[in-house]
Amino acid sequence: MKIKNICCIGAGYVGGPTMAVIAQKCPHIKVTVVDISEDRINAWNDENTENIPIYEPDLSQIVADVRGRNLFFSTDIEKSIDEAEMIFISVNTPTKTYGEGKGMAADLKYIELSARQIARVSRTDKIIVEKSTLPVRTAEAIKNILDNVGNGVKFQILSNPEFLAEGSAIENLLNPDRVLIGGEQTKEGKKAIDTLVDIYSEWIPKERLLTTNVWSSELSKLTANAFLAQRISSINAMSELCEKTGADIDEVALAIGSDSRIGPKFLKASVGFGGSCFQKDILNLVYIARSYGLREVADYWEQVIIINNHQKNRFSKKIVQTLFNTVSEKKITFLGWAFKNETNDTRESAAIYVADSLIEEQADIMVFDPKVRIDQMHADLDCLNSRNSNENKSKLKTAKDPYTACEEAHAIAVLTEWNEFKEYDWERIYESMQKPAFLFDGRNMLNIEMLEKIGFVCYAIGKG
Ligand code: NAD
Ligand code: UGA
Repeated sequence: MKIKNICCIGAGYVGGPTMAVIAQKCPHIKVTVVDISEDRINAWNDENTENIPIYEPDLSQIVADVRGRNLFFSTDIEKSIDEAEMIFISVNTPTKTYGEGKGMAADLKYIELSARQIARVSRTDKIIVEKSTLPVRTAEAIKNILDNVGNGVKFQILSNPEFLAEGSAIENLLNPDRVLIGGEQTKEGKKAIDTLVDIYSEWIPKERLLTTNVWSSELSKLTANAFLAQRISSINAMSELCEKTGADIDEVALAIGSDSRIGPKFLKASVGFGGSCFQKDILNLVYIARSYGLREVADYWEQVIIINNHQKNRFSKKIVQTLFNTVSEKKITFLGWAFKNETNDTRESAAIYVADSLIEEQADIMVFDPKVRIDQMHADLDCLNSRNSNENKSKLKTAKDPYTACEEAHAIAVLTEWNEFKEYDWERIYESMQKPAFLFDGRNMLNIEMLEKIGFVCYAIGKG
């Protein structure tokens, strides 16, 4: 079966870029991305594609090329579901904040709402594709809803988890290491798998399209994120030992990463990983393992989160200790707020937690981030419920450029690895700061030797 009409529910960091690339590579398919958020859809439809709601290198150009040709953004969810032969579910699956599994399990309420809406509206057979990251065996629940609420329409459910990383989403989508498609191992299931394989084959070599059963596909996504996050927690754990022993974490990473069995990627020590998914997906994995009674498995993976929290805490403690045990009413300038470079996404960014601890110590935080807006920073702090919104507003401010941000600061802390930080005029920054001028590099990205020559007193993660 050749697909002519795709609907994607959820116009977020996954739905938007993924569908833009499918539309670009498959001009014969009409792709409509729908969302309950009118604001988000309006932003996707903004005449100036620089104003689309998600910043990703090359994304606005693709949207400019294909929007209105075969890519559409709409709030008319029912119409798009009705017209589509294939529906991607790309809604958010955050950690539950209430009830059974609170703080651990994935909240599947948006998935269920989407499934019920599909069941209610559909009048023709459809292939449903799970694009969101879901607990293993969710497809079973979706199938149950579709088969029991639907009007006799036949549905095939595929799991097609997304492996893109923010900041390199377009590159990852155009040239993925692999695409994973899980489906029912029946004649109809295999036909549905082939239909999705046909779409990806338009630009991805066949050998990179892996097909499995549904459960392997669902669990592989959680496993991939757990392994990636585990590497970061492993190197971060070693960074603390480096600081005690005089070893240098970058040298250790190079030494171990040169072993082809270990490999060099994801060994960059940092102030801690952030992002919307690593923590949420590992907590979900821990919850699933516990619910099957696998205590040792659950404890093993939970340690990845424990080390990550420890890394963020010890960074803020280091700042306080170094500044003579008090940051009260001192100006601390953060370079970066996003959870990584090349994105405006701030979800679970280490910067939020470091700022919160320092504000608890009465510091005044000034932030410069090239892509994040101040209202987002305040919203991030408000979410922690540590103090009221007005206090957060008075304790965290931003400046329009990095030089103004650093003026009169007692210390600078690098929280995001934006490349432009390397290019700043550090002598000019040093001259404008209070002395001693402290610098805490939470990303090990600056030239510490050069900064120390200028006069900065520096701390970098994992440098003995
Ligand atoms: P997001 O919050 O950016 O986007 C989700 C969108 O879904 C929101 O715009 C929301 O309004 C919309 N939505 C929720 N319920 C809806 C409904 N019933 N009908 C219509 N729209 C609805 O989330 P995201 O970052 O795109 O992540 C989506 C999923 O993809 C998650 O499961 C996540 O774990 C997974 N994932 C994310 C990334 C990433 O880099 N962000 C990468 C791989 C996988
Ligand atoms: C991650 C995975 O890399 C994607 O494959 C996956 O699809 C995605 O999660 C998801 O499921 O949401 P993402 O969170 O966008 O992607 O970004 P990463 O590049 O993985 O970075 C995550 C965090 O780890 C960032 O805060 C980053 O700065 C940090 N990090 C990364 C390190 O501290 N050290 C490293 O060596 C690598």
